[in-house]
Amino acid sequence: MIAVASDHGGFALKEQVKRWLADFKRECLDLGCKDESSVDYPDYAAEMARAIQDGRAERGILICGTGIGMSIAANKFDGIRAALAHDAYTAKMSRLHNDANVLVLGGRVLGPGVAEEIVRVWLETPFEGGRHQKRLDKIGRCCG
Ligand code: RB5
Repeated sequence: MIAVASDHGGFALKEQVKRWLADFKRECLDLGCKDESSVDYPDYAAEMARAIQDGRAERGILICGTGIGMSIAANKFDGIRAALAHDAYTAKMSRLHNDANVLVLGGRVLGPGVAEEIVRVWLETPFEGGRHQKRLDKIGRCCG
């Protein structure tokens, strides 16, 4: 299950991401927001963290205007490794080396073609493990 959440700045791209997830045959859990009315992105980062921590979702996609606020907020939560990606290369590396369980996108930054490629690559790329696991263990220890 892939959870998706956004604030108003990411709402339009979130709706598009849901259509891509359907195309990619991925189940999707929409955690809001519901429209383009102004909301606070930390509330949705927290919802995403809870969904992953309690096992309702395996991974998630968070979207705000730039992706920066969602990244800062999501990475405060235990067990969340949120990566802001602007291209397919960083999206791929966030899976291979960082085992990112949350992809963060900037709805006011990305064009639809680039965003779709980022989402597709991020979904299909596995974690490489090996030497990278030791580094993630160190992050886990300093944060929890
Ligand atoms: C909302 O206007 C905007 O600040 C938010 O979407 C995000 O870009 C914050 O980092």
